[in-house]
Amino acid sequence: AAARTPVELRAALAAGPGAAPGPAEINRAAELILAQREITTTLAELGALGSEARYRSVDFRDRDAVLRAVKEIHAEHGRLDGVVFAAGVIEDRLIADKTPESFQRVYGTKTAGAAALFAALDDLPGAPAFTVLFGSIAAVLGNRGQADYAAANDALETLGADWAARTGARALTVHWGPWAPSAAHGGMVGAELGREYARRGVELIDPDEGTAALLRELAWGEPSVRAVVYTASGW
Ligand SMILES: NC(=O)c1ccc[n+]([C@@H]2O[C@H](COP(=O)([O-])OP(=O)(O)OC[C@H]3O[C@@H](n4cnc5c(N)ncnc54)[C@H](OP(=O)(O)O)[C@@H]3O)[C@@H](O)[C@H]2O)c1
Repeated sequence: AAARTPVELRAALAAGPGAAPGPAEINRAAELILAQREITTTLAELGALGSEARYRSVDFRDRDAVLRAVKEIHAEHGRLDGVVFAAGVIEDRLIADKTPESFQRVYGTKTAGAAALFAALDDLPGAPAFTVLFGSIAAVLGNRGQADYAAANDALETLGADWAARTGARALTVHWGPWAPSAAHGGMVGAELGREYARRGVELIDPDEGTAALLRELAWGEPSVRAVVYTASGW
């Protein structure tokens, strides 16, 4: 518990009892602990603000599990007002170095995940007032090593637009530029990627600004708009 940073955690895990695990195992274990701490902290913060937040983990590539979870959440509250779908993974490599399995992980997490979500929402008595899909500027302008991720986020927007056309509900894909990591949440922009963006003059979105931009878009944006791009600077 005393190890707070990733470096301290990795050192503590490496020095732990039992057979010494490999660096990959140590890294995975450290990331899991950090993720669990982030969830606990966020829930405590929300609780202190008076929000009744619940955390539930569902693999969105497991369609049946998604259908079950959405159904149960709706049954528990008797309504579902809004959905933010932000699941995603990156495995950046040039196309020549990508495997079909890796492509499918990156592409499927967004596309099969969103398809499962919309199938689950279709099963409810009424559509939520809004559905926000977290896309990426990579879908709009491309990014080296991210052919799979760019395709996934572009397809995400199409899936959202199709669902909106079918149901008349609001589906908004936000194609984000890169976010600055915060103390509590590192996110997809690691130190190396951050340096690469700085070299290219691409600024990172301040997490508070990004959150406010999304809330402004939901409150005052034109509801028929299916996708927006938010960046802190040119790409
Ligand atoms: N950070 C950025 O600069 C940036 C820029 C553009 C777009 N985005 C988008 O914003 C979203 C959040 O990104 P982030 O930076 O916060 O990255 P992150 O820390 O890696 O978060 C990704 C999240 O997706 C979840 N996830 C992955 N696979 C999943 C699955 N099969 N089922 C359910 N959940 C799954 C992860 O959950 P577990 O940890 O439990 O696996 C994690 O909570 C992503 O969709 C990303 O594409 C981020």
